Amino acid sequence: MVQPLVLAMGNHKGGVAKTSSTLALGEAAVAGGLRVGLIDLDPNCTLTETLEPPDQDAAGSKDLLRDDDRALTLADCLTPAGEQWSGIKVCLSDPLLSNREYDLSGIASEGRLRQAIYAQPVGLDLIIIDLPPARSRIALAGLVAADMVVIPTTASTYSTRSMSQMFDDFLPKARQFNQALKIAGVVVTKFAGRAEERRVLGELVAAYGELVLEPTIPRHEIVATAFESLHLPLRQMHDGYATKVAESYSELLPRILAVAGTSIKQLRKAKANR
Ligand SMILES: Nc1ncnc2c1ncn2[C@@H]1O[C@H](COP(=O)(O)OP(=O)(O)O)[C@@H](O)[C@H]1O
Ligand SMILES: [Mg+2]
Repeated sequence: MVQPLVLAMGNHKGGVAKTSSTLALGEAAVAGGLRVGLIDLDPNCTLTETLEPPDQDAAGSKDLLRDDDRALTLADCLTPAGEQWSGIKVCLSDPLLSNREYDLSGIASEGRLRQAIYAQPVGLDLIIIDLPPARSRIALAGLVAADMVVIPTTASTYSTRSMSQMFDDFLPKARQFNQALKIAGVVVTKFAGRAEERRVLGELVAAYGELVLEPTIPRHEIVATAFESLHLPLRQMHDGYATKVAESYSELLPRILAVAGTSIKQLRKAKANR
């Protein structure tokens, strides 16, 4: 059985475009012909809200992370996103997900999401996990479930500081439970090219070298309009700036996959063999 590649979008700072990057990379993967699943691990539910799944009562991430024999597998917790997001399935979040923070204190609970993903075939090529803006047990379970972590950050001192804390303590902690966890790289988001942003970007490249992925993602207000107000994929905005941002993510996706030693073509081929 061919398993999907699992990415996690992680940075415990809010507002660095984890959710937007999850959506835009998902959109890019669908454009490349992949079957995509997005897991919302944030009790704020912004990913779920944007994807507008018609079945709002479907089982979701809170059901994956239960601490009893009613825990479900991912195959049972995927529901189609709204029709504008064709090709995307979502494991939806719920404000009650925050209660799972307490459930995840038991033995081997760090691996619960990972088990839920691999328990049964899910018929997906790529899974992207949108992590909450916290160094919580839920976030840890997300990292333990992933093959690779992608770290979005804005080119600002506070965001890069929380990013470097990820490298220093949270990723090593996740590796205690998932030794194979790779770092895909750092994605610089919402980049407007101001002098201060360029300075911080220079520092990032000096400190992390090739881990800083190209291209940077340009800042355009239309992204908020697309995702937050209209709940639409960037390509459906039919707007030059939205298309530019969509294309930046489409350029980024193969570079992320390359770190995992795969490509869109290979993931598609794996699907044909299934
Ligand atoms: N490329 C971009 N240009 C402009 N605004 C963006 C861009 N990407 C994301 N945003 C906006 O930035 C805010 C935070 O993004 P979000 O994805 O919710 O971050 P996080 O999930 O890390 O908290 C949102 O209002 C979002 O619409
Ligand atoms: Mg978010």
